[in-house]
Order: sequence, then structure tokens, then C-alpha cells
Amino acid sequence: MQSAQVPLPPHIANLTDLEAHAVVTSAKAKLGSSVVVLGHHYQQDDVIAHADFTGDSLKLARIARDSTAENIIFCGVHFMAEAADMLTGGKRFVSLPDLGAGCDMADMAEVRDVQDSWNDALKAGAQDIIPVTYINSSAALKAFVGKNGGIICTSSNAKAVIQWALENGSHVFFFPDQHLGRNVAKGMGLDVSSDMLLWDPKKPLGGNDKATLLAKKIWLWKGHCPVHALFSVHQVKKIREAAPETTIIVHPECAMEIVDISDMWGSTDFIIKTIEAAAAGSKWAVGTEKRLVERLAKQHPDKTITSLNPFTCLCSTMNRISLHNLAWVLEGLAERGERYNQISVDQVTAQNSNLALGRMFDLS
Ligand code: 13P
Ligand code: SF4
Repeated sequence: MQSAQVPLPPHIANLTDLEAHAVVTSAKAKLGSSVVVLGHHYQQDDVIAHADFTGDSLKLARIARDSTAENIIFCGVHFMAEAADMLTGGKRFVSLPDLGAGCDMADMAEVRDVQDSWNDALKAGAQDIIPVTYINSSAALKAFVGKNGGIICTSSNAKAVIQWALENGSHVFFFPDQHLGRNVAKGMGLDVSSDMLLWDPKKPLGGNDKATLLAKKIWLWKGHCPVHALFSVHQVKKIREAAPETTIIVHPECAMEIVDISDMWGSTDFIIKTIEAAAAGSKWAVGTEKRLVERLAKQHPDKTITSLNPFTCLCSTMNRISLHNLAWVLEGLAERGERYNQISVDQVTAQNSNLALGRMFDLS
């Protein structure tokens, strides 16, 4: 979900990078423990430089939930700031420094389409459906899932969550990332053709007949991440030919064909920890967002770390959070007590979402 971001005022927009860094540093010093800056691994280095905590979506959600700071500046994307607001019971000021920082994948599962699909499935006779949504989804979808006995997952805990859902129902309706759902379920031993189906929300019953629907355990919503769609089997093959000693590690938002032939796969946190622990001199081709891969390469000059995609795989919405946007939000707060870009979720939505988020935290 993207909203219009107001242009930055000239006293911020005209700062050099050096000046903007100084503004952020002094505003943070003035605000002290009343502010915490959270930075997702896909953020720009200039933003990460000021983050009190960096992490993947699960780690940052936990930190936001447990934070006592009055102000949480979330350098990530919209659904992450929404989750932070809901997990803190709306008691904190949560700001997203650029309102255009949405997630294209989250936008692929509109709650009204999900509700229509759910109704269709019930009409077809399906029972005991457990809805599961990846945290990359709107607060409205999380609330739908919470209300219907379901649960949230992130890429770090998807296996435990899908296991829980399988134990608690006959069908798992997984939103919005078909790839994460398929890769994780396949990794757990489920069969792609006999246990899973793809649900295309544009077609009646998702493009399936009733018998198929009732027979399959995992229903995968037809959504994907456009950034991770930029990796291909061809790229893997080229690296294997040119530098066979390279270990290929990818995020589970990549298509199954890529995950299947890569050497390792897992969440951003898993990718970081694996490369950190690797031997000096090792070679890595990484299938995830560009900023993270570039940072890993800088942090580990003793290893060769490149992107699996030699051209680009930048999350343009994550990238909208700039040093200047961060300076704007913090300077307004520190100098004038002004609150820009608040992300606030209504109470009913938050209560229902928290049911699903709570079930996730109980498992991970
Ligand atoms: P993580 O859960 O690994 O942080 O991933 C979030 C995301 O948006 C990946 O595209
Ligand atoms: Fe969304 Fe993909 Fe960007 Fe992650 S990388 S925030 S899933 S668009």
C-alpha cells in the first residue's frame, strides 16, 4: 500500500549527506531513549548507519513489541510499521520515514479478494481451513487471518507455522507469497502436485475444481515478490559453469526451480549468519535484495560475495527511505515535537491481527 509522501521541506532537502548525517546524530542525541530507530537488512547503508537495531522482519517485530521507547522510527516498509503499531497496542508513535515505502507483494492480496475466495471455498464444502499469512501483508489481511483462527509467519519461522497449521486444520490457505509457501512446504516433505494447489484470485475457486480443492492440503495464493522474481535458473547455471566452487544461497521468496538447485536457502537472517560463519576465501552468490548483498560483501572482504543476478535486484520501495527522510522525521521530533508519517492501525483491526501475531510468537 503506497501513499503520497509530502516533499521534504527545503531546510532538510537541501542538506548535503554530511549535514544530514549530523542532523540525525544530533536529533537522536537530544531524543535519547525516547526514540528507537529500526532498520531492515534491505535498507541503504546511510540509514543503517543510524539504526539502533537491524534485523529481519521477525527480529524487528519482536524488538518493536518489547521496546519501551515512546517513538519508533521504522526504516523498512509499510507492513512492518503497521505490525509495530499493532504489537505496541497503539501506545507508541510509529513513523515510516517515507509513506511510499510499501511492499508490492503485500499489495497482491487485497483483503476483499481474500474474503471472496474464502467464501467460495466454504461454499464448495471445504472445512477446517487455517489461514496463514506471511507478515508481508496488510493489517487488514492479518486481522482476517486472526479472526478466522489463523496465524502469521515470517521467512524465519514459516516451517513451524505451517506445521502448526497442518496440525490444526485440513487445509492451509497461504497468503500472499506462493513461493515461500511452496518452498517451505516442499522442504517439509509435502508433494507439490499431490498436496498443493495454486489459487488464482481472478478465477472461480482460484482456477481449481471442487474435487481438487478438497483433496489438497496447501492452497497457495498467487502472489510473489517482484524483486526475488529477478533471479533465474539460468543465472545459477552460469555461475556453476564459470565458478563451480561458489556456494549459491537464496531467499525462499525465489521460485522453487531456483531454490531446488541452489546449495542453501533461508531467510535474510539465515543468509547473514551462514555467510558470517563461512571460511575466509569462500565464494558466495546470493539470491536476495541488492543492498543486503552489497553490505555483506563490504563486511566480509575476506570472502567473495556477489549477487546471483549480475544486473539489479533492488527493492525500490525499501529504498525510498533515505537519509534525508530519516533526518526530516527525527529533526521534527527533536526540535519541534512534531510527528511526521505516523502509521496507526484502528483498534479492531489491531486486536484481530494481534491474535494471529500472538500465535506466531507463541511458536517462535
Ligand atoms: P525477511 O523476513 O527475511 O526479513 O524478509 C522480508 C522481506 O520483505 C523479504 O523480501
Ligand atoms: Fe516486498 Fe519483495 Fe520488497 Fe520484500 S523485497 S519488501 S517482499 S517487494
